[in-house]
Amino acid sequence: MQIIRSVDELVGYVAMQKNHHHSIGLVPTMGALHAGHISLVERAVKENDTAIASVFVNPTQFNNPDDLKNYPRTEEEDIRILAQAGVAAVFVPSVEEIYPDGAKPEKVYDLGTAAEVMEGKFRPGHFQGVAQIVSRLFLLARPDRAYFGEKDFQQIAVIRNMVKSEGIEVEIVDCPICRDVDGLALSSRNALLTEEQRSRAPEIYAVLRASVEYSMSHTVAETHAKVVALLDSVPEMRVEYFEIVDASTLLPVEQWDEAERIQGCITVYNGSVRLIDNIRYRPLSSESV
Ligand code: PAF
Repeated sequence: MQIIRSVDELVGYVAMQKNHHHSIGLVPTMGALHAGHISLVERAVKENDTAIASVFVNPTQFNNPDDLKNYPRTEEEDIRILAQAGVAAVFVPSVEEIYPDGAKPEKVYDLGTAAEVMEGKFRPGHFQGVAQIVSRLFLLARPDRAYFGEKDFQQIAVIRNMVKSEGIEVEIVDCPICRDVDGLALSSRNALLTEEQRSRAPEIYAVLRASVEYSMSHTVAETHAKVVALLDSVPEMRVEYFEIVDASTLLPVEQWDEAERIQGCITVYNGSVRLIDNIRYRPLSSESV
């Protein structure tokens, strides 16, 4: 596996792949890799001639300096995992390499209304930062396909909007959430949980799952209230937001028949660690019943 640290080297590497008519699959990550990332990488390896992963903790998408400071960084281990998974090249740039003029917004991306709700409301500037780094990576790595996990359900919708508004030609491939055996959605942030917080964390998915059944005989508002009440009653947990939304627009619904696909998206503070998860309400999937 080639370890690439500079933009110039990446551009040269990609040009070589294009000369050989190799299709490129890109897996953008912020490192601290877990089985969820590995599932994206394995898919990229399978579906493309050349799989490239990036490991870069992007400062411009953090609206909270402590969150950026505490974000887990395990570069050596990440590189080992990616090599083992069959990635052809990993791009591991420094902040200065990506942002020579300083890590700050350079323009305002048109991300549609999907970027204004939920994470967009609670993490101002977050999606602009995501759009900034992902569009940069797309322009440098010129992937045919790019792989993202559905845990960040809203992020995928926003990236799709960004690709459209920027006119970038790439297929966005969304991949199912990977869960631990106890149901907790895999996340790099799980590493920050104390033992006690970790033992309670599976409640998030347990409550979401049970709420799908509850939703069969209750209104959207009742289902919403139930989820929030149950999770708020778990010690150290506080729901930041829970929204039941049209999965296409990400705008809230009031009735179960209001949209074809309905998703519940949640963010919960478990102590000081912010965890997100989501579940499909309509149509029912094997995961939700
Ligand atoms: O989902 C993530 O890990 C990040 O938001 C991404 C897409 C790698 C951009 O920094």
